Amino acid sequence: MSDEHGHDNALVLDHFFNPRNVGDVPDADGVGEVGAVSCGDVMRISIKVKDGRISEARFRTFGCGTSIAASSVTTELIRGRTVEEALKFSNTEVAAALGGIPPAKSHCPVLAEEAVKAAVADYLLKPRKPAGT
Ligand code: FES
Repeated sequence: MSDEHGHDNALVLDHFFNPRNVGDVPDADGVGEVGAVSCGDVMRISIKVKDGRISEARFRTFGCGTSIAASSVTTELIRGRTVEEALKFSNTEVAAALGGIPPAKSHCPVLAEEAVKAAVADYLLKPRKPAGT
């Protein structure tokens, strides 16, 4: 089965038709919103950080099926990672987790990488209350 963009990758289709972790994390610690200049797609990832690890991640994406699948699998991949690990998050990991992405769609996982890094940067730049206050 192929979607309207010609994908026949079962993992992409699964994450497109049954996206995980859609929405916004309530009271997020970091939010990253990025756009792909080439296609106009927009992806937002919000995270909650607990004890230096991402405890929750959600996404909202306005874009192609592959970008929605990439966002969905990314929220699963980054959960449980430390902030340092998340800063090294790579689009190749997203593509691999989806069973490979055709070259024409290679910027969809890149968008996911950028959204994660933007969310972590937002978290790191936000002033935080000292512990115990
Ligand atoms: Fe634009 Fe997928 S086609 S992010």
